Amino acid sequence: MPAVLPPVSFDPARGVAELRTPNSLYALRVDADGSPRHLYWGPPLDRAALDTLPAPHSPARSSFEAEAAADELAPQSGARFGPAGLQVRFADGTRGAQWRPADHRITGGELRILLTDRHFPLAAELCYRVRPDSDVIERWTELRHTGGPGDGPITVDRLDSASWALPPLSDYRISHLVGGWNSEFQLLRDRLPVAETVLTSRRGLTGHHAGPWLALDDGSATEEHGEVWSTTLAWSGSWRITVHRDPVGRTTWTGGFGHEGLSWTLHPGERLTTPIFAGLHTSHGFGAASRAWHDHVRTHVLPDAAHDRPVVYNSWEATHFDVDHRGQLLLARRAAALGAELFVLDDGWFGARRHDRAGLGDWTPHPGAFPDGLRPLADEVHRLGMAFGLWVEPEMVNRDSDLYRAHPDWVVHSPTRTATELRHQLVLNFARPEVEAWALRTLDRLVRDNGVDWLKWDANRAFTEAAWPGRPDPDRLWIDHTRAVYRIMDRLRADHPHLRIEACAGGGGRVDLGILARTDQAWTSDNTDPVDRIAIQHGYSQLFPAATMAAWITDSPNGATGRATPLRFRAHVAMAGVLGLGGDLTAWSEDELAEAADLVARYKRIRPLVQRGRQYRLSAPDGVTAVHYAAADGAEHAVLVWRPATRFGHQPPALRLPALDAHTDYLDADTGRRYSGAVLRHRGIDLDLPSGDYASRLIHLRRHRP
Ligand code: GLA
Repeated sequence: MPAVLPPVSFDPARGVAELRTPNSLYALRVDADGSPRHLYWGPPLDRAALDTLPAPHSPARSSFEAEAAADELAPQSGARFGPAGLQVRFADGTRGAQWRPADHRITGGELRILLTDRHFPLAAELCYRVRPDSDVIERWTELRHTGGPGDGPITVDRLDSASWALPPLSDYRISHLVGGWNSEFQLLRDRLPVAETVLTSRRGLTGHHAGPWLALDDGSATEEHGEVWSTTLAWSGSWRITVHRDPVGRTTWTGGFGHEGLSWTLHPGERLTTPIFAGLHTSHGFGAASRAWHDHVRTHVLPDAAHDRPVVYNSWEATHFDVDHRGQLLLARRAAALGAELFVLDDGWFGARRHDRAGLGDWTPHPGAFPDGLRPLADEVHRLGMAFGLWVEPEMVNRDSDLYRAHPDWVVHSPTRTATELRHQLVLNFARPEVEAWALRTLDRLVRDNGVDWLKWDANRAFTEAAWPGRPDPDRLWIDHTRAVYRIMDRLRADHPHLRIEACAGGGGRVDLGILARTDQAWTSDNTDPVDRIAIQHGYSQLFPAATMAAWITDSPNGATGRATPLRFRAHVAMAGVLGLGGDLTAWSEDELAEAADLVARYKRIRPLVQRGRQYRLSAPDGVTAVHYAAADGAEHAVLVWRPATRFGHQPPALRLPALDAHTDYLDADTGRRYSGAVLRHRGIDLDLPSGDYASRLIHLRRHRP
């Protein structure tokens, strides 16, 4: 019997730390110069095998490369010429830390490597955490000014959460997410250039254009095969990840909060803690990497993954800013009849908000639209058996608002620069304690006074001219604003245990593991066109579980793309996530309403599979894609299949379902037809898609118990 090795260990004699997860080993070694360097990350090895690994220093090829090794957090000193994860300046102008031989501390699944500078009052802790049920390794850094009153400040130009390294591979490929408003989460998979590749957001928000997630492989991994290393940063403000493939064949990457050009000051006694940068290794392809992320997010990130996400009706696409009590009630009645469980009143209900040029910041019901306030609508929605939700955008303000008129100094601004308005709005500086306190007070009252069960928390612009007049360390707002958003959400949840929060930023502009630690789901994209959504959802699923992916059935033709699609196709695409409805139900025919009610009912039958099952992304020729959700115990399965366009004479081949058990028979839950698991795995299921474009199908299988 091989000895059971502890999840976290540090052997001072060898200077080697080991972090063991169920299917992987991560090892580092503290070298004689005090610097922790990367040793290994891959399938488990025993200690004897680990000891045969070469030292992390690669052999010097010349005097130009003597220290070319992968640091756990490169400190911008010595002969290191790659991107430094820690960049500091001391009061006398000296740059870069040099560490004393490190100490360490282990508590449960947590390891801390304790580093102190040889000369200056600076201490860093490189922190690692593993859990018995996850292959995810969580890493972060804590930096401390350990000096006294006489010591000058330390300037921090970059403080990454962690740096990561790959073993030498024959080639390197990067997968990451790019996009824009209405086209978030587009998966790109490209050969990694021999260069420093920077993925970043300078927007104060995670961003539509990029996301702090990546996967690396040697170019040969597929959905179900091959080694994949994947990392993601749990942060909802500006961020930066620099991937460095060097000319001699090594690849490392380092990342954390903030972007280039920002700096933060540490005074004696002060500490700066980074967000978590989490990583995982799998030997079983991109699908396994995603499933490991999904499990991790559900088990260790989301505040409450166990509850079924409700079927929402959201009025935005139906009424835009034209909201009033009567109109919303009409929609609420129709939505309830279709099976909606939550009614969300979107933008337009407050202040002077009849368009996007006024009212943001004034979170009291519009007197003309809601003469008796929101309570009567909330009560009626509750009577209809639905929860009541409200759209808010607490971090933003229109100049044309009572809030801005009262507190023009509350916005992120520079007195000598013209403030760029985006969507006619400015950003409130939540890093200011009085602004944070106002926001918490306002939201708390809103929830308390109006029977609000759900907040859709939006943020519709990036930061610009981001200064903080009068504050000696103004760049702190890039960190402290985001932390204040987190704190307010955490406080609201603690004080209103029934309250659920949906993350939104003009669609999917702020979705990451930081915001998901205090929200229940995210509004994936303002683009609800089902064809576009297939690609958006494919990218989203690389990291995030379906239980967080809000997806509505809306009107046809689609408001964003003008594309007309059948209701069934729209519904089948939206069923791959948290199904909702978002169209103008007053314009739907009786037939459409009946069909929609039936589709919602069908969704509720597969909801536990979609929201809590294991997800397998499938594709077949002729533009057919599918997503398979399997119950953890394998007893039940849902497969959603989509074919947006037909080609004459092409019938898609049978779709193989590799996640089924070859030794089991399955029954189609709708038709009762019996299938052999072996046939469905190895030969596939005939799709029998309806003819024409925008064909789709939901296949619901149950394990047959003779
Ligand atoms: C953003 C959101 C939309 C909607 C509008 C309201 O764009 O993503 O869903 O709430 O704001 O203005």
